[in-house]
Amino acid sequence: MDIFVSRESVVRSYCRIWPVVFDRASGSWLYDERGRGYLDFFTGAGALNYGHNNPALKRPLLDYLGCDRLVHSLDMYTTAKREFLTAFDEVILQPRQLDYRVQFPGPGGANAVEAALKLARKVTGRTGIITFTNAFHGMTLGALSVTGNAFHRGGAGVPLGHATPMPFDQSLGGQVPDFLWLDRLLSDGGSGLDKPAAAIVETVQGEGGINVARPEWLRGLAGLCRRHDVLLIVDDVQMGCGRTGPFFSFESAGITPDIVCLSKSISGYGFPMALALIRADLDIWGPGEHNGTFRGFNPALVTATAALRTYWEDDTLEHATMARDRRIAAAGTALAESVPGTSLQVRGRGMAYGLAFPDGELAGKVSSAAFELGLLAETAGPRGQVVKLLPPLTITDSDLDQGLSLLAKAVCTVC
Ligand SMILES: Cc1ncc(COP(=O)(O)O)c(C=O)c1O
Repeated sequence: MDIFVSRESVVRSYCRIWPVVFDRASGSWLYDERGRGYLDFFTGAGALNYGHNNPALKRPLLDYLGCDRLVHSLDMYTTAKREFLTAFDEVILQPRQLDYRVQFPGPGGANAVEAALKLARKVTGRTGIITFTNAFHGMTLGALSVTGNAFHRGGAGVPLGHATPMPFDQSLGGQVPDFLWLDRLLSDGGSGLDKPAAAIVETVQGEGGINVARPEWLRGLAGLCRRHDVLLIVDDVQMGCGRTGPFFSFESAGITPDIVCLSKSISGYGFPMALALIRADLDIWGPGEHNGTFRGFNPALVTATAALRTYWEDDTLEHATMARDRRIAAAGTALAESVPGTSLQVRGRGMAYGLAFPDGELAGKVSSAAFELGLLAETAGPRGQVVKLLPPLTITDSDLDQGLSLLAKAVCTVC
């Protein structure tokens, strides 16, 4: 591993918690260069909802590349983009009666967030953004300004402004009625809060530690935004593409955001790709006003189209995810009961679950013990106190059970 240590920046992080050299991957498994297998409950931080090298996506990709089809094209028209937009329209937007324009920003989640924030400001002529405690939206300066984590914010090196944090659902323990404070600030001309352009929210905070917003809280937020003429941005970068069950994580709350950010699993294959979905009447960009070299990367569009056609033309995957939600919840509850002194909390939705420990040290030890046993599960939350479980949505029941039992073993070893 010398070359990594001597040449790669010290900013590297995942390799520190999983200090092996990975080489191959298939389905729910990664293999290191010595051939040892690791069950993947990390899935590229949510970028591999359909597992590694999924054959239903790999086949069209190899066909595409094998015929010298176009790889790089910025935002030119291509056949791959036409097929993707057609599939996205037919399979995702029309059945949900959603009339979004699709913007291809740069390839990462933060690019989608930056595009959403810029557009919200352009449309409204206002600058402020409402954010929520423990939010995570990415590392670029705009995305960082709406992110909660102090360590990451500290890396900005400049003041992060034009964002006002509000309590996320349940963070005041139900002692204050939802949105009492925010409603008061927005309604009172003397509050000192300039009318914001938008509110940005994750329906389930992933990096924040699997904090699940209740549907009624999300509906309350959507209603508040509507009443005060504030745009609602849902950042579905990590929880979209079926992670919580339906394709969009906000569907179960019955809300329709003005702008939606997607990335991570939208390409389906782990390729960089991001989208900003824009309510049609808000699409007032000038041509090229927001651009970037790596937009609409064709191999990603090919695998994204295959993922939509394979998994979203019916509700089989969504139902399977909800069934596995119950399976993970039951295993987590049994696990929490088996270590009564630890005040272990289990929370999640769909196939995004967290085991919340009292402190980050314990959670870190569980993650390390899981790794020793052959299971990848990272930690999240402001103190790293939550062991985060994001198994592939396509995992087999036996692999899921094996992963859950390795996790139980890791918890028992540590606790
Ligand atoms: C909700 C959310 N938004 C934005 C991002 C940033 O995405 P990227 O790291 O691809 O820029 C992430 C990354 O974890 C995320 O979870």
